[in-house]
Amino acid sequence: MVKRILIGFVLTIIVIQFIQPARNSTGQVVPQSFIDTFLPNDTVLNLLSNSCFDCHSNNTKYPWYTNVQPIGWLMANHINDGKKELNFNELAALSTRRRNSKFKSISQQIEQAKMPLKSYLFIHRNAALNEADKKLLINFFQSKINNN
Ligand code: HEC
Repeated sequence: MVKRILIGFVLTIIVIQFIQPARNSTGQVVPQSFIDTFLPNDTVLNLLSNSCFDCHSNNTKYPWYTNVQPIGWLMANHINDGKKELNFNELAALSTRRRNSKFKSISQQIEQAKMPLKSYLFIHRNAALNEADKKLLINFFQSKINNN
């Protein structure tokens, strides 16, 4: 009985490897309109690129283990949900009111250490933000809030 369950489990793991989710890759490595409009310096851009763009832009960097299911499925879910809330490729096209609200929300998420997602940090350790990184990012986004 135990042996059968084990074989069943192993077979399932093998079969699901063939079900690969669609990739979030446009080839555009950086969200150019974001850079042109909001002029982040290199440090800000690198932090966002390391910690946020995988789920909040049109281009994800996929490490090898995202080819392993169900890790790839989880990642695809996070990207779908993440892009619905915030897409750095589209920020520049939003109205001032909506941009301001995104900037506030970004600052809050960073301040409260809700982003990047914990499950992501677990495998992408270099995406963690230290206190100085957080401060830098929050100052950047606060400075972009337009009060007119
Ligand atoms: C592993 C994928 C992933 C990464 C990396 C990630 N996010 Fe998210 N983000 C999500 C998902 C999924 C949601 C929507 C569900 C939620 O709020 O948990 C979200 C939601 C958000 C929201 C909207 C929250 C709200 O409720 O208004 C903001 C703002 C945000 N993320 C900012 C960031 C920033 C800034 C970074 C980088 C420091 C980042 N995220 C990194 C997946 C991610």
